[in-house]
Amino acid sequence: MDHHNPILITGASGFIGRQVCAQLTRARRPVLAMLRQPQQQLPALRAAVDSLGGEGSLLQAVAGDLDQPDLGLSEPLPALAAVIHLGARFAWQLPMASARRTNVDGALAVAQLAHQQQARLVFISGFMLENLAHLARLGIHLDDPEQTDWQNVYRHAGGYEASKLEAAIRVRHYARTQSLALVEVQPATVAGDSGNGQLDQQQPLYQLIDNLARGRMAAIPGTPEHWLPLVAVDLLARLIARAATADQVPATLLALDPATPSLKGLLGEAATALGRKPPRRFLPMPILAALLRIPGLPRLMNTWPEALHFIQTTRFDTRASDAFMAQEGLAHPPIGQVIAASTRFYQQQQVPGGDAAASPLQGP
Ligand SMILES: NC(=O)c1ccc[n+]([C@@H]2O[C@H](COP(=O)([O-])OP(=O)(O)OC[C@H]3O[C@@H](n4cnc5c(N)ncnc54)[C@H](OP(=O)(O)O)[C@@H]3O)[C@@H](O)[C@H]2O)c1
Repeated sequence: MDHHNPILITGASGFIGRQVCAQLTRARRPVLAMLRQPQQQLPALRAAVDSLGGEGSLLQAVAGDLDQPDLGLSEPLPALAAVIHLGARFAWQLPMASARRTNVDGALAVAQLAHQQQARLVFISGFMLENLAHLARLGIHLDDPEQTDWQNVYRHAGGYEASKLEAAIRVRHYARTQSLALVEVQPATVAGDSGNGQLDQQQPLYQLIDNLARGRMAAIPGTPEHWLPLVAVDLLARLIARAATADQVPATLLALDPATPSLKGLLGEAATALGRKPPRRFLPMPILAALLRIPGLPRLMNTWPEALHFIQTTRFDTRASDAFMAQEGLAHPPIGQVIAASTRFYQQQQVPGGDAAASPLQGP
């Protein structure tokens, strides 16, 4: 890998992407961001990267779109050191066709580009790929994408999650058959920066805190064993950057802090930071799922049925990523501190007397 060649990154302007650009450029790695509107987006991205401790001047951009044939790239790319694929449509209630076009076809086009370039692909999937019982329940065949009834998976899991699962299975298959060097990073739900708690409004954890702050969480979904595994965005960004640049990297890196408390504990810590009473009663998942089938209620409760899949009782084996993190000198920041910082950041976003957080109703 030539250190002078840029690392191409899709989704650079997103919540995780900005932090990854900061980590890479801080380590003096040139970065080429594939952006839909480079003229408009690059100056803001450079400024964001600078403010995150990176080096915005090491960032260049190329126009590209995951929805276009051949990524809509109009100019030949320089030789690349690696490709990081973060770009995706990230929202609840995504129609199958558009989720598939961006998240599956777009991911395969990026894999082909990495293959042409003989560059390592760091592909960002999600931690649900490690919940094998969940995948089996959805009827997903891990080895052969053609054996799965994807329509059925989209019906049960919703457009976002189904397209992320399909993309991972298809990209793995492509990498196996084409001998592409693939590293799959599987993030848990992403929490704010461990220092200043920065968290975008459309992120699922922001919405959970918003629901709590607005008194929409009278009960805790599930049981005392249910949890929403988290990872701090700054640690995740370091991990993704190292996955692209380290010599020896495991094929999959589960980015999940096993010390994340149960959902009750998480809501308790966030409630304390908000100065509110935490919810104490539990609402069994089947009852919550049934309630959310009533038209209008998901919007009223600001909770989409497909979001409930991420709250579960499964525990995960993080030994491979723990060993890689130790090798790279990385460690999870204390998760209680991350939850508190994220909640404080949420509070800072609220305009006194205003309704600044009304927009999460639209997001994922
Ligand atoms: N956040 C989480 O909790 C979480 C957990 C597990 C996995 N992930 C995965 O991590 C990745 C990044 O997530 P995020 O939270 O950073 O999401 P995000 O803030 O919504 O960022 C999404 C990025 O994708 C880009 N994008 C969307 N459609 C595109 C298209 N057609 N062509 C080119 N770029 C396009 C967006 O560009 P614009 O700025 O132009 O819209 C943006 O840069 C996604 O693959 C997501 O599935 C996230």
